[in-house]
Amino acid sequence: MREWIQLVESDLVHFPEYPPEVAQHVERFITQLEERGYEPHVGGTRVAMISPDRRHVVKIPLCDQGMTANNREQAHFSRRNSGDEIIPLAACRLFFADREIGVPMLMMRYVKPINRNRKLPPWVGMVDCQQVGHDHTGRLVAYDL
Ligand SMILES: Nc1ncnc2c1ncn2[C@@H]1O[C@H](COP(=O)(O)OP(=O)(O)O)[C@@H](O)[C@H]1O
Ligand SMILES: [Mg+2]
Repeated sequence: MREWIQLVESDLVHFPEYPPEVAQHVERFITQLEERGYEPHVGGTRVAMISPDRRHVVKIPLCDQGMTANNREQAHFSRRNSGDEIIPLAACRLFFADREIGVPMLMMRYVKPINRNRKLPPWVGMVDCQQVGHDHTGRLVAYDL
């Protein structure tokens, strides 16, 4: 098991640990992406693997909360045209690297972090740690809800 996965997991001791076959699956998937040049960025509950061309990231859950976060972001994005959501989220979709194991992975558009000197719209204050930036079209979006 990678040291930084252990680190994240030990910070989150109140979450059940993955069963060994799920941990191995996640570890294998991370290794495959690293071999293709993806760069890991560790968050609180997920690791975001940034593609070598910086067009997208793959968010891999490291615990149950990371799975919930992936599901929540997919659900939020799918409601983008409903008028119910105030916070625009970077385009994303769920996928499974292995359907039988069923860890929900999230593919998301790469977001370039903001220049904090700019005046920002009020919804930015509702995003945890103001994790917002610009997508490839220049639109200001959140990348972590
Ligand atoms: N769409 C994105 N574009 C660029 N970087 C991202 C994107 N999503 C996440 N990251 C980077 O990866 C880190 C971890 O991802 P994040 O979604 O914050 O995970 P967590 O929910 O576990 O905190 C972020 O702090 C950020 O640096
Ligand atoms: Mg985060």
